Amino acid sequence: MRPPPILSESPPPDLPRFLAARHHGLGDVFALDTRAGAPTAYCVGSAAVREMFAREREGGLAVHNTATVHTLFRRAVFTLRGREHETVRTYLSAGLRHDAVAAYLPSVAEVAHRHVSRWAEAAVVALYQAARDYTMEVCLTAILGLAADDPTALRVPELFDRFVVGAELPPTHSEGGDEVFAAALDAAVELRELLQACTVRAADSARPSVVSALIASGRAPGGEGVDHLLALLIAARETTASLVTWLLIECALDDQLADALATDARDLVTDPVQAIVRGGAPGLRRVLAECARLHTPNTIATRQAVTDVQVGGYTIPAGWHVAYSAPATHLLPELFTDPEAFHPQRFCGPDGARRAAGLLAFGRGAHACAGRGFAEATTLLLVAVVLAGYRIDLDPRQRPKVERFQPVRAPAGSVHARVRQVVRR
Ligand code: HEM
Repeated sequence: MRPPPILSESPPPDLPRFLAARHHGLGDVFALDTRAGAPTAYCVGSAAVREMFAREREGGLAVHNTATVHTLFRRAVFTLRGREHETVRTYLSAGLRHDAVAAYLPSVAEVAHRHVSRWAEAAVVALYQAARDYTMEVCLTAILGLAADDPTALRVPELFDRFVVGAELPPTHSEGGDEVFAAALDAAVELRELLQACTVRAADSARPSVVSALIASGRAPGGEGVDHLLALLIAARETTASLVTWLLIECALDDQLADALATDARDLVTDPVQAIVRGGAPGLRRVLAECARLHTPNTIATRQAVTDVQVGGYTIPAGWHVAYSAPATHLLPELFTDPEAFHPQRFCGPDGARRAAGLLAFGRGAHACAGRGFAEATTLLLVAVVLAGYRIDLDPRQRPKVERFQPVRAPAGSVHARVRQVVRR
C-alpha cells in the first residue's frame, strides 16, 4: 500500500482547525513533514482514530515522548509500554477508580467552597490563574493527602512550576547547557524527596487521598512510584484548570444557561459524591461534555510506528509519528452539526450519553486518561459551587480567544471575572 498524502507546510498554532479543514480535501489520514524529525501522520475522524488505537493494541504503535520528558519523568506511567505499562495502570486504578475518588470528593468540595468564596471577596478575579490555583490545591489535597497549611503543600507548587517549565521545553533544546532545564532538574530532585515524604506521612493519615489508597492497596508508591505521582500531578493540574476555565467562561456568557443549571448545581453541593455517580447532575454533565468537545484541553497525542502500520488504507512507515487530535475530530460537521457553536443540547435525548461517551477528550486505548472520573468530578464540583450560590460575569463580556493550544488550551489574557453571591431560585 502507498503512504498517506504528505503536506510540507508548517501548521498554524490552531492545529485542530487546520487539521479539520485539511480533512475535507485529504481524507482521514494525511501527514505533515516539517523537516524537523520524522513526518507525523494525523488520524482525523472516528474511523481513523479507531484504527489508530487498534494498531496500538496490536503493538504496531508505541507511546512517544521527547527525550526531555524521559529525563524528567523517568519511568512515569505514560513513558511505559506493554505489560509493564498495564501493571502500572492496574496499580494506579486503586487510587483513581470511582469508589476511591468518591472518598476524596467531600474534601474537594471544601477546597472548591474556600476558593470560590475568596473569589467573591475580590473585586475582580483572574479566572485562569484562579482555576490553576484550585486544581493545584486539589492535587495537594486529594492526590497527595496534604493539609492546606502543611509546609510541604506550600513548597510543592513552586517546585512543580519550575519542573513543568523544563518539561515544556521544545525537543530541540540542548539538555546540557540550558539554565531552565537545569533548574527543572534541580526542582525534580527536591520534588521527588517531598513526594516520597508524602507517601510516608499518608500511611499514618486518616485523610483519604490517591496516595493513601495506593498504600492501602498493599504497594507503597516508593522509588518508581514517585515518578507516577509526578505523572498524576502533571496530567491533572493544567488539563483540569483549562476545562474549569472554559466551562466557567461559557456559563458567565449565558445567564439562561447558568440559571438552568442551578438545580443540578445545588444537588452536587448538597451531596458532592453525586459528582462521580453516572447520571448525577445530568444538565451539568451535558455542559461539561460540550465543553470537552469544543474546548478540548489536550490538542494532540503522538505515538511512533514501531513497524510499518496500515491506517485508513495507507501504509505508515516504521519510524514515523502517528497522532490524533481530539479537538480536530470534534470540529467535523459530519459528526457534530454546527461544530463551532457551544450547544450542550446536542447531548440531550436517548442517544446523548452515548454520544458524549464517544468524545475523544480523554483519549482512548491503552493510554487513555487514567483520571477521567477524578477530572470530571473536580470540574463539576467547582462549577457547581459557583452556579449554586454565585453569579459570574466576564469583563469584557466576550469569549476570550485561545492564546495557545499546547500543552493545553489556554485563554488569551487573564480572563477577568466578577463573582458575586446571589440567591438562585
Ligand atoms: C480535564 C482534565 C483531563 C483531560 C482532558 C485529560 C486527558 C487525557 C488524555 C487525552 C490522555 C491520553 C493521552 C494519550 O493518548 O497519550 C490522558 C492520559 C492520562 N491522564 Fe488525563 N486528563 C485529564 C485529567 C486527569 C487527571 C485529573 C488525572 C489524575 C488524577 C489524569 C491522569 C492521567 C494519566 C495518568 C494519563 C496517562 C495514562 C497512560 O499513559 O497510561 N488525567 N489524559
